[in-house]
Amino acid sequence: MKLTGPYQQIVTLAQLSLRGKIDDKDLEIIENGGIVTENGKIHQVGNFDELKNQFPNAKIEEVEGTQVALPAFTDSHTHICFGGNRANDFAMRNGGKTYLEIAESGGGIWSSVQHTRNASEEELLNGILLRVNQLIDLGITTIEIKSGYGLSVESELKMLRCIKKAQAKTKATLIPTCLSAHLKPKDFEGSSEEYLEYILTEILPKVKEENLANRVDIFIEKSAFLPEESKNFLLKAKAMGFNLTVHADQFTAGSSRIAVEVGAKSADHLEATDDNDIEFLAQSNTVATALPGASLGLGEPFTPARKILDANGILAIASDWNPGSAPMGNLLVQASILATYQKLSSAEVLAGISFRSAYALGLEDRGVLAEDKKADWVSFETDNFQNILYQQGSLKTKSVYINGEKI
Ligand code: NIG
Ligand code: FE
Repeated sequence: MKLTGPYQQIVTLAQLSLRGKIDDKDLEIIENGGIVTENGKIHQVGNFDELKNQFPNAKIEEVEGTQVALPAFTDSHTHICFGGNRANDFAMRNGGKTYLEIAESGGGIWSSVQHTRNASEEELLNGILLRVNQLIDLGITTIEIKSGYGLSVESELKMLRCIKKAQAKTKATLIPTCLSAHLKPKDFEGSSEEYLEYILTEILPKVKEENLANRVDIFIEKSAFLPEESKNFLLKAKAMGFNLTVHADQFTAGSSRIAVEVGAKSADHLEATDDNDIEFLAQSNTVATALPGASLGLGEPFTPARKILDANGILAIASDWNPGSAPMGNLLVQASILATYQKLSSAEVLAGISFRSAYALGLEDRGVLAEDKKADWVSFETDNFQNILYQQGSLKTKSVYINGEKI
């Protein structure tokens, strides 16, 4: 048993609602706090001096200076397994070139597919670990990672195997997702329906066999897969036992409805969701995930996060870190900026990157500092938690703990 502290403040995020708006005054803030851990889990959180008396045999881990502690964060949507980069796409986009012009000149998702297919397993693994370590430095200890730049049996499995290998080399929790339905690859001979069938019959059974992922994603959009074929695909993947998530309503509305209808764990993007669909989504148990990094990367509107929360939806915020639309990869910067544009309370932002985003991944054992939860937390050198979002991501983390151990 170990007691860590004292922290000037511990923001536990305990006892907050899974859905809807949250006021900052609802936050539990423990002054002069301590965290008692045992076997990787939180045993108790409370006043440091009281805990010291209550657990006289606990090993004391004293923290230096003035620090604030919070639950570690979860990034529930990333594409950080990839080869190459798309700096040229970014420059072309800012130069006014359209999606089609960029694709025609050799950019877009297809260029990442070619680089990823050509990359060795070692290169991919090193790339994942580099980015995972950057995320850990930001206080993120649970990270979803998608395939989707392979788009063939061989290359999709290569990506997912690399994610599995990365898991063996990091203490962070990596959650793999099969996004073979990212785009119909240019070299696939057949319709997009046939490609979806190929995923169902050739890729997913192997993903299951090798236990490489239990989540399936699809990009529903005019440039990718159409609503009807996507719905059939999702229902078949569900029948195979996969949990579902959807890239929905990024440029055109309508697909978040499908995510809800098929019982997806989350519908992500939602920059183009209309008011009726916001209501429909907000009344469901499908998490609405805002990806401000994609809005910033593409110069597109932000997800209507305020409306989703006001309609009582479950709002998560994730980075979408990928080589194309969201190259930044700094969730804290992105979430702080989303807050200023969408008028989100600090509590709503912190919930969106902790227990609500963990819930989107089906994880209810983390994102809150309370008894029996996973002992993952992050500290910042400051006297008030408000400074974290106020500094819009420029306040660096002081320490990150995973399973009660400082890493
Ligand atoms: O979430 N929208 C589709 N997929 C990614 C973009 C991937 C890419 O551009 O490489 C996204 O933004
Ligand atoms: Fe994405």
